[in-house]
Amino acid sequence: MGITTQCKTLSPIAEDILGKRYYHEGEDWKGLCERVASVISNGDKELVDDFFDVMYNLDFLPNSPTLANAGKESDRQQLSACFILPVEDDIVEIMETVKNTAIVHKSGGGTGFDFSSTRPKGSPVSSTNGVASGPLSWMKIINATTEEVKQGGMRRGANMGTLRVDHPDILDFILCKKNDKTMTNFNLSVGVSDVFMDAVEKGDDFELVNPHNKEVILTDAREIFDIICKNSWESGEPGMIFIDVVNSTNPVPHLGAIKSSNPCGEFYFIPFGVCNLGSINLVNMLKSVEDGRYVIDFDRLKKITEIAVTFLDKVIDVNHFPLPEIHDMAHNTRPIGLGVMGLADMLLYMKLPYDSDAGREMVGKVMKFIDDVGWATSNMLGRELGTFPEFQQENLPSQKTPRNCQITTIAPTGTLATFAGVSFGIEPNFNFVYRRKIVDSEFIQVHPLFEKVAKEEGFYSEELMETLRTTPSLKVRNLAGVPEHVKEYFITAFDISPEDHVKMQATVQKYVDNAVSKTINLPYDATSEQIGELYMMAWKLGCKGITVYRDGSRDDQVIVAVKES
Ligand code: CDP
Repeated sequence: MGITTQCKTLSPIAEDILGKRYYHEGEDWKGLCERVASVISNGDKELVDDFFDVMYNLDFLPNSPTLANAGKESDRQQLSACFILPVEDDIVEIMETVKNTAIVHKSGGGTGFDFSSTRPKGSPVSSTNGVASGPLSWMKIINATTEEVKQGGMRRGANMGTLRVDHPDILDFILCKKNDKTMTNFNLSVGVSDVFMDAVEKGDDFELVNPHNKEVILTDAREIFDIICKNSWESGEPGMIFIDVVNSTNPVPHLGAIKSSNPCGEFYFIPFGVCNLGSINLVNMLKSVEDGRYVIDFDRLKKITEIAVTFLDKVIDVNHFPLPEIHDMAHNTRPIGLGVMGLADMLLYMKLPYDSDAGREMVGKVMKFIDDVGWATSNMLGRELGTFPEFQQENLPSQKTPRNCQITTIAPTGTLATFAGVSFGIEPNFNFVYRRKIVDSEFIQVHPLFEKVAKEEGFYSEELMETLRTTPSLKVRNLAGVPEHVKEYFITAFDISPEDHVKMQATVQKYVDNAVSKTINLPYDATSEQIGELYMMAWKLGCKGITVYRDGSRDDQVIVAVKES
């Protein structure tokens, strides 16, 4: 017997969000799944039932814009969550990007920008005989525009702002949120090269280069690194992007270098890049065997992965892209972002600690399987429908006929995992009884497996549940009354050492084509030196980026690093 599918038990939180933002007139969950399946299958009768089933059973869900916008009148049928927009050193082009940002946000997408090609503040501007105001002033304009444009009438847009570490304004960038409290609509990442990381390790000098006149200023790499770490310690930002690692897997390098990611860090691409995401619910891929143990049902996972890849590829064809450049990029490169949710819960059912070799081994096996089946499906689609037009064999040596330039990516699933009632993306649980803030409502959530195990093992009590609910940074391993063998695997983000968080991200990254959205949780008493060590570790383990969050370092702490508004 497998785990019962959860379609009939959408939680009150899920129904609340769906009702406010996703259901069309008179719809319920079944109606939503019928609408989305019908639009995405686009008349292909063989696909429509599979598409309906995977969504209705919560085995796989496409990203929010697909669920909310499929079936709207054609120019509002925008189905993707991730966009990368260009920023050139030219006022007219920049204002064009500001306009495009508003268009993308209005359609429900998040945007990423790299400001590295804009000249530093104080540089001469020949056309006006004035001086340039620098990358931060462009960020301010985008920030203000975002503030005014709600996404699809539902939520405020999210932005990622990146600046290369060798830009002369890098310190202003690192400190920009500290110095300007209105800069609330940007996540910040510093793009660091391997040369920079080497210089930090060796204590060498490092060159800041003016992108406009190529003037060089010599600086101490460690000094910049320490300021980044100090700020991350204080506020969780900026994150880091390991830009050379990112570009080493660029599937279309002949079209340009990658400089930025989308807001939550799972999609790195060249300007005008766009990606529609979708996530497989790993809890639903479990089956119980005779002795009560849970194992992965790989036959089922294969089938769901094949359907998910076909689904996400089809989304590209019916998607209404907000700009012609984005439309062309999407059709010429066809990236899709298949990810997972409920990974931590999967490990709980399997009694494998998130912070153990055995846990990571299982995760690696599952992710590799999904990536392999994903590529096989894309190659099959390619044989039938044609490879993506910009395919060049040397960029994807192990693929012969892929329909898509990338398959896998790990999204935060801030909303999707709430619909499915499972842990977010690849994040561990934060508690097993907790309040969650969504829009203007608060909900209490109880983890069903924790309750079941507690009852079976005889340690369930109202008192314990109340302790769980009222203990913010709960460490189960510190709790009295929970048996040792349960404490081994039933753990929260705060039981897990920061190093083990990084190791999990690196394990998943190994089998993911694009990138992994994950927060590295640190205890309140962590130091900024520790953050530096984690950054080094993440770089050496092949992560594409890293975001840390020290417990209690921000007042507006929410469950995931996604801006809900
Ligand atoms: O679960 P859901 O599909 O709503 O989204 P997610 O997996 O939490 O986030 C995926 C991506 O959607 C993010 O990386 C952003 O690009 C975008 N997003 C956004 O633009 N604005 C938000 N408030 C949340 C997500």
